[in-house]
Amino acid sequence: MGGVQYIRWQQPSGTKLKYSVIEQMTLDPRERARLSRRLRSFVSTTMIAADVQSLPMGDSPDLILVPATPEERIKSIKLNSVAWKGPLDMDAYIAREEHLYNQRLTRENLTSWILVDRNEPEGERTILSSCETYRKKALLAHDGTVENVKTHGIGSVYCRPDFRGKGYAKRMMEELSQKLETWQMEKESRGRSLFTILFSDIGKKFYAQFGWRPFLSSHMVLPPVAREVLNGSLENSKIRSLLAKDVQDCVCDAATLAKLQERMQVASQSPGATVAIIPDFDHFVWHWAREEFFAEKLFSNRSPPVVKGAGDDQARVYCVWNRNFGDAPEDNVLYILRWVYDDPTSPEDEQTLIEAMATILRRAQLEAHEWNLSKVEFWNPSPLLEKAVALLDPKAEVVHREESSISSLRWTGAEQGLGKNVQWLLNEKFTWC
Ligand SMILES: CC(C)(COP(=O)(O)OP(=O)(O)OC[C@H]1O[C@@H](n2cnc3c(N)ncnc32)[C@H](O)[C@@H]1OP(=O)(O)O)[C@@H](O)C(=O)NCCC(=O)NCCS
Repeated sequence: MGGVQYIRWQQPSGTKLKYSVIEQMTLDPRERARLSRRLRSFVSTTMIAADVQSLPMGDSPDLILVPATPEERIKSIKLNSVAWKGPLDMDAYIAREEHLYNQRLTRENLTSWILVDRNEPEGERTILSSCETYRKKALLAHDGTVENVKTHGIGSVYCRPDFRGKGYAKRMMEELSQKLETWQMEKESRGRSLFTILFSDIGKKFYAQFGWRPFLSSHMVLPPVAREVLNGSLENSKIRSLLAKDVQDCVCDAATLAKLQERMQVASQSPGATVAIIPDFDHFVWHWAREEFFAEKLFSNRSPPVVKGAGDDQARVYCVWNRNFGDAPEDNVLYILRWVYDDPTSPEDEQTLIEAMATILRRAQLEAHEWNLSKVEFWNPSPLLEKAVALLDPKAEVVHREESSISSLRWTGAEQGLGKNVQWLLNEKFTWC
């Protein structure tokens, strides 16, 4: 050990070379590795050279939105790491994105987009802003019929801090709204998408100007609960933990998907169109790939999180969850991705269902405690779920979000003769991307 390590980089102006030197003699190997990692991450995120003054404005005719090359995709990931790598270091963040990219949900369906100057050659283009789109299977109900269609979810909308305020994100969203209407839709019977979705973390106005209208964006929260507090009540209940395979069998099975088809059929009789993203198993596997990646990195001495939800076979109610790990303790959340149950047919049925839901929520609270998560959260609770929560915490309230995770949908069905109005069925956390 010992010696000197040189890190060299080029200044953004491209004119001066600067050097930084780390005396390694004084560092123990772990500290040295940590410092090297931080420097590598710093160099790779900040040293993507650009002369900010000479950049075109967002309304320039020279700007074009294109799918990134594989190298440009990695560059975009490095750039947006500043905002989204959370507790991961740069290498782990890139590996996580690669891991997610290779899931069944995303393989062949994910496009990484970049806004660039059309005059710059591929491979040397300056990335002005970026985002990702995920093609997904969906159902469209209208005029008594239900169609299998495809849509796109949009995520990771980003502009590096030194380029902000020039109109790049706006231009990107304008261009994207047009592109997505036919992107990867060649094999669809209509040859185009009728809607696309996103989840805004910057309020309700920005995306609305390009047609992504805010939809219901509410949630309820429950605190984690320790096993001692539960006093064996879960062990004596009828609920069971669900492993991935159980989720496949109870939540993503053919009978449950057929019920969704039936609901859509009913919706098709109402005026206007209704859309729903199909909650297939691939969605859940994608969310879990995220939690499992984090768990392996952050809790390497702990078994992976195998409990993916809870259910009651008698009451026929199930929920699927996912652990989110973020930068701050409050970002560590047990999100309920989806609830599945049949509408009750009698007051007794309803009471049984509500009690089963409450016990499942207790199980979720315990899971949150066991993974040191700050809360259990689920989106757009139905009246039945509100009643279940009231059994556990009469003071819990429905929160209507104004800034983050605003479910937003852009509808272009009117141009296809499907009317101006659209309902979004299953506006639930599993659709987030
Ligand atoms: C949000 C972001 C993409 C905007 O990029 P940009 O190229 O600077 O945006 P533009 O110059 O095209 O547009 C600026 C507009 O966006 C709005 N905007 C930017 N950040 C915003 C925020 N955090 N909340 C609300 N509005 C915001 C500005 O108010 C401005 O609106 P105006 O034109 O009405 O004044 C960029 O700030 C960013 O990458 N932020 C970090 C990641 C992020 O939050 N992404 C969005 C995830 S949904």
